[in-house]
Amino acid sequence: MIVAQNLTDRLSMIQSARRIENYHYAIRHLAGAAEALTRSGREVIYLNIGDPQVYGFRPPEHIVEPVIRALENSFTGYTHSAGLREAREAVANYATRLGAPTVPDQVLITSGASEAADILLTALLNEGDEVLLPAPGYPIYPAILSKLGAATRYYHLDGANAWQPSVEEITSLISVRTRALILINPNNPTGSITSDEVTKQLLELALRHNLLVIADEVYRELCFEKSPTPSSVMAEPMGVALVTLESLSKTHLVPGWRTGWMRFTHADKTRDLIQAVYRLAGGRLCAPTPTQYAVRPALEGQRNFQLDFISELRKRRDFAVQRVRNIKGLSCDVPQAAFYLMIKVDSLGERTDERFVLDLLEETSVLVVHGSGFGTDPQQGYFRMVYLADEATLDIVFSRLGRFLEKY
Ligand SMILES: Cc1ncc(COP(=O)(O)O)c(C=O)c1O
Repeated sequence: MIVAQNLTDRLSMIQSARRIENYHYAIRHLAGAAEALTRSGREVIYLNIGDPQVYGFRPPEHIVEPVIRALENSFTGYTHSAGLREAREAVANYATRLGAPTVPDQVLITSGASEAADILLTALLNEGDEVLLPAPGYPIYPAILSKLGAATRYYHLDGANAWQPSVEEITSLISVRTRALILINPNNPTGSITSDEVTKQLLELALRHNLLVIADEVYRELCFEKSPTPSSVMAEPMGVALVTLESLSKTHLVPGWRTGWMRFTHADKTRDLIQAVYRLAGGRLCAPTPTQYAVRPALEGQRNFQLDFISELRKRRDFAVQRVRNIKGLSCDVPQAAFYLMIKVDSLGERTDERFVLDLLEETSVLVVHGSGFGTDPQQGYFRMVYLADEATLDIVFSRLGRFLEKY
């Protein structure tokens, strides 16, 4: 009787699609466990999401004001699905100033770089196509690929070599099904910068194998040292078909505005793809309208606020790195950009990195993200910490972490 009832219950359940079975986004995935702790009355320190606003950083007035004006003047209808003309012009001018001549028709404004990645990969890939991705790297890419039935081919960033990719390894991963090479520079979660020399070799490789290069450069303006040359600038004279993904989220401290874009370099080589991208973009109508009015002032206005942000970040980075190095059993490189620290636990024993992160949360109420959520081996023992929090909070975090490790 009970068995029959269970079966009836199961049959009457609305099932989800099989294609999202492998859709994982580790950064938010663990938040469920943390929220359960919060509900039980514990105060959790969230160091899992790269959102500067959570830690008190605010966007500059010169980009907030035009958005307020747009709202007050009811500039709140749909825009053209490729984006507001003035925003596309501003991105094209910005790219041209960098050294990658671009016209507005080569720009699509999107809901952040995330939507740009989704639209672009959907327009590009058939089931079974392969894409080369960095491991560790930003997890939205494998998630999108799994949804599309495309295959992720990870190339490794070497923790023992300042997280540089190996051109030889990437070459060995290319097959007849490989369609694209994704570069994330600077990278999340390592905060590392790929040298221009290696990037150039990778662009040559992509050219030889007719691969589209997708360059995620959302952190390019947030470097503690010389920023890498935009890959679009290198791709231009080489004749490489390349799409750059950028946004205001991190560079202008407004991740919730959902304002970003993709811009094409050597659009002559991607005409068909661009048309497919615009067709898909038409189906989702447009990116949020009011915040598109911030794109021009963001790209043309002053950047002092960015220098202040970087200098504040540098202090927090140095503090965090020093504290990690003072804890026995932990190690890390000094990040060159962004606000993430990839920390290695020397010995996890039989435990996975995800187990470690959950135990850490349970014991110390500190939430970080396990390295395997970004594509490292679970036994390697990495976790990523966002170090945007103020020094007093980081001090509490590292004291708890130190005590936790003594026992673990
Ligand atoms: C490397 C990388 N690319 C893209 C994104 C998505 O950013 P956006 O807010 O522009 O969608 C993030 C967000 O953390 C990121 O780290």
